[in-house]
Amino acid sequence: MTDLERTFVSIDLAALPHDFLWGTATAAYQIEGAVAEDGRSPSIWDTFSHTPGKVAGGDTGDVACDHYHRWREDIGLMRRLGTNAYRLSVAWPRVIPGGDGPVNPKGLDFYDELIDALLAAGITPSVTLYHWDLPQVLQDRGGWPARETAEHFAAYASVVAGRLGDRVNHWTTLNEPLCSAWIGHLEGKMAPGLTDLTAAVRASYHLLLGHGLAAQAIRAVSPSAQVGLVTNLSTVHAATDSPEDLAAARRMDGHTNRWWLDPVHGRGFPADMREVYGVELPEHEGDLTTIAAPLDWLGLNYYMPLTVADDPTGPAPRARQVARPGVRRTGMDWEIDAHGIETLLLRLTDEYGARKLYVTENGSAYPDVIRPDGTVDDPERQQYLLDHLAACASAARKGAPLAGYFAWSLLDNFEWAYGYDKRFGLVHVDYETQRRTIKGTGYRYADVIRAHGERGRRAA
Ligand code: IFM
Repeated sequence: MTDLERTFVSIDLAALPHDFLWGTATAAYQIEGAVAEDGRSPSIWDTFSHTPGKVAGGDTGDVACDHYHRWREDIGLMRRLGTNAYRLSVAWPRVIPGGDGPVNPKGLDFYDELIDALLAAGITPSVTLYHWDLPQVLQDRGGWPARETAEHFAAYASVVAGRLGDRVNHWTTLNEPLCSAWIGHLEGKMAPGLTDLTAAVRASYHLLLGHGLAAQAIRAVSPSAQVGLVTNLSTVHAATDSPEDLAAARRMDGHTNRWWLDPVHGRGFPADMREVYGVELPEHEGDLTTIAAPLDWLGLNYYMPLTVADDPTGPAPRARQVARPGVRRTGMDWEIDAHGIETLLLRLTDEYGARKLYVTENGSAYPDVIRPDGTVDDPERQQYLLDHLAACASAARKGAPLAGYFAWSLLDNFEWAYGYDKRFGLVHVDYETQRRTIKGTGYRYADVIRAHGERGRRAA
């Protein structure tokens, strides 16, 4: 048996429920292209990617995977993988090009047709309302550091849920608010590209407020909606046992994990991190209750663990990432630790009392090549997938209420500041021709899904 086969058979598929969602995930700006079609207005990512020096290779999402025109073919790929769910995001600037105010019917029509086709293919849609593509017009009016953006977000959520809520049950308000707030406003490596702690903290607050307001808005128009929040969490390790590094690890845990999880679970913003940031929160009475609107489920995006050392003069949270020697890494140079996904699923269960969990993203980038026979063999990605699936099943066996797994990503796509160079897809995309080729990992995922289905049928 090869290592891959050994890992495959080690996955405790019996621990996963029969109605488990096996999905893939994408995001609008990363795949759609067609940025100027049918009334879409520019988003902050159009602005950022067209700013010289911001994205590797000067890449932009102008064409991306041309999914806006090729979505039928892409649903065909999902069927070939055997998936029964698909996590997509709606582009706010397509639906409400002015950020607030008039709705663009053509923008909504696109998603309407897509949802119908997914359902006809037996694929459950899971819709994310915000995967980082804020309409630029709203950025010009203050962006997420401004409270109005949270209110406009709720109005947009109401419009989308009002149109699709008769067929979509599974809603995500925000994808990875950490990236919007910290990477976009503090580190400056993502749109809108600011390096301003006050703006970042205010953005983080209004993102979570927007989440709470949007959850209310969705439920108001679609009472049966299942609403969740998707956070990217990491296990955090101290580089050494020194008190300074241990404290740095605690701060990094606060910055990465607790800042997002505590408020939505009714615990408020962590006091230690408020002190670390030293920025007054733009609090209004009742906000914390809005932010803590009960979640139907929680989504975990997991890619890597973080190992940190004290960085007394560095930016908040004054913790510097260090590379652990001898640890395997992906093509993103991210450490691989499948055990981390199990740890986090169990933490969400035990510490935060999660009632339903999804792994809403998990995956790895490697520099794939099409072989002369036209196939893409990607054993490292296959190993990553199987190891993480085994860890998910182990968490489920230990009590985590895991209801689904969405592989990141269906397609190679626009990997934000890294451009098209980093390939996360189960399906390879040739950006010259837009030709799609299922990679070895795609076939491997299909095998797991099939094996889980067969086990369920035998047990029935
Ligand atoms: O591509 C991103 C995605 O948009 C959000 N989560 C992480 C992925 C890989 O970096």
